[in-house]
Amino acid sequence: MTVPDRTQVGIIGGGPAGLLLSHLLARDGIDSVVLESRDRAYVEARQRAGVIEVGTAELLRDVGLGTRMDRDGLVHGGIYVQFAGERHHLDFVDLTDGGTVTVWAQTEIVKDLVAARLADGGGLKFEAEAVAVEDLTTDRPVVRYRDAAGTEHELRCDVIAGCDGFHGVCRPAIPSLAVVDHAYPYAWLGILADVAPSTDELIYAHHTRGFALHSLRSPEVSRLYLQVAPDENLDDWPDDRIWSELATRLGVAGWTLHTGPIRDRGITPMRSFVGAPMRHGRLFLAGDAAHIVPPTGAKGLNLAMADAAVLADALRALLVDRDGRLAESYSDRCLRRVWRATHFSWWMTSMLHRPMQADAFDEALQLSQLRYVTSSRAAATSLAENYVGFTMRTA
Ligand code: APR
Ligand code: PHB
Repeated sequence: MTVPDRTQVGIIGGGPAGLLLSHLLARDGIDSVVLESRDRAYVEARQRAGVIEVGTAELLRDVGLGTRMDRDGLVHGGIYVQFAGERHHLDFVDLTDGGTVTVWAQTEIVKDLVAARLADGGGLKFEAEAVAVEDLTTDRPVVRYRDAAGTEHELRCDVIAGCDGFHGVCRPAIPSLAVVDHAYPYAWLGILADVAPSTDELIYAHHTRGFALHSLRSPEVSRLYLQVAPDENLDDWPDDRIWSELATRLGVAGWTLHTGPIRDRGITPMRSFVGAPMRHGRLFLAGDAAHIVPPTGAKGLNLAMADAAVLADALRALLVDRDGRLAESYSDRCLRRVWRATHFSWWMTSMLHRPMQADAFDEALQLSQLRYVTSSRAAATSLAENYVGFTMRTA
C-alpha cells in the first residue's frame, strides 16, 4: 500500500497490540496507519504465546474476530499442576464460577487481524521500520520511518502508539521513563511438534531436573517447553534428548508422552520488565514495548491486547470527544493490570522452576506451596482467578 503522510494515529509495530488497536480505532471511525518492520509472512509465522483469558476471547468476539477462534480454538476448563510424581487437576470452571481459557495461538490472532485490516482497506505497511518519533509534546507528533528500499519518510499524526515490542524505538523516547527489570536464571526451550497432545489440558510440572510444560495448539499439534539455562545452546539438544527430558519431567505412572516430528524450536529468555509511565505527551506505549512477563502463566499476549483495548477507548475520547481524561489515566490503569500479571507470572515461575543452586529450603518451600494450591480451595481459587483473567473484568 502507499502510506499517506498524515493519519490520526500512527501505530508502530504490527504485533497483536498494534494490529488490534488499529482494528478497534477503525470501528470508531478513527484513521490509523500501522508501520511494521518485518514482512507479512514473518509476522504471521512467528511462534509466540497460545492461551487467552476469558476477557480477551470476549473482546475478539465483540469486535468480529471470534469466528475462527470459536471454531478451532480449544476451550479449557482447568490445568494440571504436577510435582513429586503426582498430577493434580485445578478445575477453573468450578473455582471461578465458570471461568475458562482458550488455547488459540497468537499467530492465528495475528493472521485474522492482518486479514481484517487489509479487507477494511486499513493502513498497514510491512517492511516499514520506524527510526524515530519526534514532536511528542505537540499535537502533531511525527514518525520517521524507512521503507524496504531504504527511503526515509515522515508520517504526521495526532497521536503515536508505540506497539513496537521490547526492542522498539518508542520506549526510549519517554524522557521520564523509570524501569523495573528482573532477570531470571533460566530460559525455556520450546518446541512445536506434529503429534497429538498427550493431555486434554495443560500440564505445569515441577521436577527436580527443572520445570516442564505440556501445552498444545490443536488436536494434531503439541507445544512443549523445558526449563534450561539462559545460555543454553540449542545445538546441544537433538530431538531424542528433548523428548527424553520431556518424558522424564512430565512423567507420572500410567501416562505416556507421545512424540513426533519437531517443526519449530527456540530458546526464550525470561524476564520481568515494566517501563513507566506508558505515556509521554502524544506518545502512548502498549504491549511488550512497555512490559514483559515471563511466560509461566501465559499473560504477555493478554496484557498486550488489554492495553490496546484501554488505549482505543482513551483515543476515542481524546480524538472524537475532545476529552483527555482517559488519556491522562491510561498509564495508571494499564499498570495496575500489568503489576497484577507481573506478580502472578513471577509467583508461578518461582513456584515451578528449579533455582540454579537449589537448596533443601527452596525445594521444601516450593513443594509446600504446590501442595497448598492443590489442596486448599482458597489457594487454588487465587491461582485460577489470576489464570483465567482477574483484572480484565475489574480494571
Ligand atoms: N518499526 C516498525 N515495527 C517495529 C519496530 C520498528 N522500529 N520495532 C519493532 N517492530 C515490530 C516487530 O517486528 C513486531 O512485529 O513491532 C512488533 C511488536 O510486536 P510483538 O513483539 O508481538 O509485541 P506486542 O504486539 O506488544 O505483543 C506482545 O508478543 O512477545 C509476545 O509474549 C508476548 O504475547 C506477547 C505479545
Ligand atoms: C503456550 O502454549 O505457548 C503456553 C502456554 C502456557 C504458558 C506459556 C506458554 O504458561
